Amino acid sequence: MFDLKNYIQTNNKLIDKTLDEILQLKTNPGQLAKAMRYSLTAGGKRIRPVLCIAANEAVGGDSAAVFPVACALEMIHTYSLIHDDLPAMDDDKLRRGKATCHIRFDEATAILAGDALLTLAFEIIAAYGLKNTNFNSLELIRLISRAAGARGMIEGQMQDIAGEGTLLSQAQLEQMHSLKTGALIEVAVYSGALIGNAGKAQIDALKIYSRKTGLAFQITDDILNVKGDPLIMGKAVGTDLKQNKSTYPAILGLKKSVEMSKNLIKDALDALTIFDERCDPLRSVADYIIKRQR
Ligand code: IPE
Ligand code: IPE
Ligand code: MG
Ligand code: MG
Repeated sequence: MFDLKNYIQTNNKLIDKTLDEILQLKTNPGQLAKAMRYSLTAGGKRIRPVLCIAANEAVGGDSAAVFPVACALEMIHTYSLIHDDLPAMDDDKLRRGKATCHIRFDEATAILAGDALLTLAFEIIAAYGLKNTNFNSLELIRLISRAAGARGMIEGQMQDIAGEGTLLSQAQLEQMHSLKTGALIEVAVYSGALIGNAGKAQIDALKIYSRKTGLAFQITDDILNVKGDPLIMGKAVGTDLKQNKSTYPAILGLKKSVEMSKNLIKDALDALTIFDERCDPLRSVADYIIKRQR
């Protein structure tokens, strides 16, 4: 029986070590580096890097080699959370069990720490591509940029903010979720596969897996915002309702939202039938995504 807890723990240790090395090497000591390190090491689940690593393993790659890219994805994610928590956006004070970056430091520092994490991520990915020429690194950079930007996460964040106070249709909600959360999750899986030189059938299957999993991930985030335990989650609950956010529980109700997330994960797992046991980590992560409590 595959032990996901152990898999995540082992990988997270290596992810944290790699992130630490990157910060040591690539930042100047001072307030900016402190804020970047503070948010990066606050205790995230590291789902995106783990997905990148697991996808790489699934296609037969040597996952030890993908850590820099996996960590760059975590930097992009962490930057998005720092900005998401700002007063101009979700105005949250707690993240990953600690004061949010702008509360611990100040708004200007939080904005800059986010900016610096985003740009550092691309420096790391580009440097990785210069060293590893066995895959198309420019294509990787193009896809990660797209997923993080105006046709991906940032557009999703814009739709989330613009949608406050209006009840979106289910189709609009699905689009918003796929952009704000799905895009980065999809590209995390894709990156691992691309670096592992995956074949077309593998890529096609992983695209379905990541699209379904990404949506299920955000639906679960919405569900936890209604019924999660803030002490376990390390962030506030009930905030979506307060800010009149369009969420799955708001539109479909809790029961249907849970059902939908389960169906998405079933579809995600069904897409993986062409893979052997090297895909078990990816299978387990999908299951964890809807069962998680934080
Ligand atoms: C939270 O992401 C924000 C969303 C995109 C739903 P995670 O639930 O992965 O947050 P961390 O990284 O574990 O803190
Ligand atoms: C965060 O979405 C998504 C991004 C930062 C791209 P939410 O605002 O729904 O996530 P939480 O609940 O604050 O973690
Ligand atoms: Mg938000
Ligand atoms: Mg938020």
